[in-house]
Amino acid sequence: MITNFEQLEQDMASTPSFDGQLAKLVHLTNSNGMSVSFMDIGATWLSCSIPVNEEAREVLLRSPNMAEHMEQNAYFGAIVGRFANRIAKGQFELEGKRYQLGVNNDENSLHGGLEGFDKKRWAIFEQGTQQVVFMLHSESGDQGYPGNIDIKVTYTLNNSNELSIVYEATTDQTSPVNLTNHAYFNLAGNNSGNKSLDHELQLNAAHYLPTDSGLIPTGELKAVQDTSFDFSEAKLVGKDFLTEHDQKIAGGYDHAFVFQPEVADGESVAAVLVAPAKEVVMKVKTTKPAIQFYSGNFLAGTPGKSKNYELYDGLCLETQYFPDGPNKPEWGANRGFLKSGELYQHQTVYQFEF
Ligand code: BGC
Repeated sequence: MITNFEQLEQDMASTPSFDGQLAKLVHLTNSNGMSVSFMDIGATWLSCSIPVNEEAREVLLRSPNMAEHMEQNAYFGAIVGRFANRIAKGQFELEGKRYQLGVNNDENSLHGGLEGFDKKRWAIFEQGTQQVVFMLHSESGDQGYPGNIDIKVTYTLNNSNELSIVYEATTDQTSPVNLTNHAYFNLAGNNSGNKSLDHELQLNAAHYLPTDSGLIPTGELKAVQDTSFDFSEAKLVGKDFLTEHDQKIAGGYDHAFVFQPEVADGESVAAVLVAPAKEVVMKVKTTKPAIQFYSGNFLAGTPGKSKNYELYDGLCLETQYFPDGPNKPEWGANRGFLKSGELYQHQTVYQFEF
């Protein structure tokens, strides 16, 4: 029988990627039978296999092959940047100068623009059995962004079933930098028939960022209390689904939830996702100030490994700075600007219990 690693190689590395070359894959395993796989295209997290009742369960969504991976705009498992999420009209002003980015989401720029970091080939700088380090250089002017930046992303799988992602970046000129991973989770298994709506979620966030119909934050920090956005106690995602205007314009949840500073210390549990049958739990810890909870509202019709995905077949928990931060001076340090001489350093951990 073909192993999961062989299957992934066959699916993703047997036909050329964007640059005409084959993708390179890296597989990590731990002592509990958990394994994770990545590829250099987009430094993408392709697979997360956990043993549940003695069977390997794939909890990530992905494309069936490289050709479909290049066509999809779900951003399955990729590192997205230079600026994750949306920048209104792809424009921002910095130090008196106006910048125009590539526009790829109606009138807005999403996940770095036309050729974001998800589409680039990253260098595999180091690789071991439980760690891989990817690096990328993005030149000044890349997709319209100022400053030459160097990025390092380190994925580590430990024996406590934690997949940690460390993000580091430096620049020679101030630039928006907001890096995240765009994995879609379905803890019941990517082919289970269960939906994001069947999962229980807890978010240690007292506020969320309401948006306009183009999903650009209005600027308001709205209290979650007494709204359908209150996940401060664990709640079924489907419970208050599409009950309020702020969700209806987004087709569900597709919003940044703001962590209290003490939650974003990298060690506190900031979010908890529980599988429909409760046999798998995923905890998220992070140093980022917010998390985009996206319930898979645009997934319908995207070809997937196990089937053509339908609405809500998986959900994302993307740790990040505030969407459209570059256009919101009032948001201070949460805007996501990196200056020359500073080190961008963040960590997000996804810990699995099974
Ligand atoms: C955004 C969604 C978008 C999805 C795929 C998410 O991060 O919040 O609005 O559809 O990425 O591009």
